[in-house]
Amino acid sequence: MSRYLQVVQKNPSTVEQPYILDVEHVQKKFGNGDIGEKLVLADIGFSARRGELICILGRSGCGKTTLLNLLAGFIAPDQGTIRLHDQPVSKPGPDRCVVFQDDALFPWLTVRENIAFGLKGQRISSAQKEEEIDRFLKLVGLSEFAAYLPSEISGGMKQRVALARVLILKPQVLLMDEPFAALDAQTREEMQNLVLELWQQLAHTILFVTHDVTEAVLLADRILLFDKDPGRIKEDIRLELSRPREKEDQNFLSLCRVIRAQI
Ligand SMILES: Nc1ncnc2c1ncn2[C@@H]1O[C@H](COP(=O)(O)OP(=O)(O)OP(=O)(O)O)[C@@H](O)[C@H]1O
Ligand SMILES: [Mg+2]
Repeated sequence: MSRYLQVVQKNPSTVEQPYILDVEHVQKKFGNGDIGEKLVLADIGFSARRGELICILGRSGCGKTTLLNLLAGFIAPDQGTIRLHDQPVSKPGPDRCVVFQDDALFPWLTVRENIAFGLKGQRISSAQKEEEIDRFLKLVGLSEFAAYLPSEISGGMKQRVALARVLILKPQVLLMDEPFAALDAQTREEMQNLVLELWQQLAHTILFVTHDVTEAVLLADRILLFDKDPGRIKEDIRLELSRPREKEDQNFLSLCRVIRAQI
């Protein structure tokens, strides 16, 4: 049995889990041609617990993608430290996986082969690999589409493949950058529910970037509300709403109103 299935929590309460990710005093500037340098992120600090679902919420340009790129190890901070399990993050690694808004699948590979891609080179038997691929195809509801090419499936299905492709690597931290922003409202809602289902089964830590308040309130244990110029954490909000959450619920709506007023 997978180590992930052994930690299944139907209603994860992450408040008692240990911190695994620590971000301290992180600063990032970008050279900006004639205008000189621009301070994009100033003194970012927070810690994330194992299994915590944190939404990073803020307006366009506040540095959300930059923060995710730093956490992924694609770029380095000018100042400050990022640590996962006390180890400095200095480059990309399979312990931190990213899902982007428009995730490029390999167009010449089938859904199954796209999901299998990350397992190449892993020391498990091919029977085990096939079993894992089947499990993740099923988890994202694509078992019947395994033989399709990316050009033959919808945008929502592509994002399901993108999710399965990284989850099969069993990342400690899943980084998601507005992954459903390009989808229609109904597909988006299905994908939000899928993320919650997978999170409850696999219990990984998620940092989910969005500028949609409703999406953040639906998903998050905690919202890091960002300010811009320079990008910084304005509020660290722990959500006490029970799950499953109802978008029509009065508490849900009033929390959205309070947060919207602060953005
Ligand atoms: N490589 C880069 N070089 C120069 N400036 C950059 C670079 N990457 C980002 N920036 C600048 O940093 C700021 C923050 O960008 P970032 O993409 O992180 O914002 P964001 O919050 O993700 O915005 P959005 O919601 O529109 O995706 C912007 O002003 C952007 O122009
Ligand atoms: Mg962005």
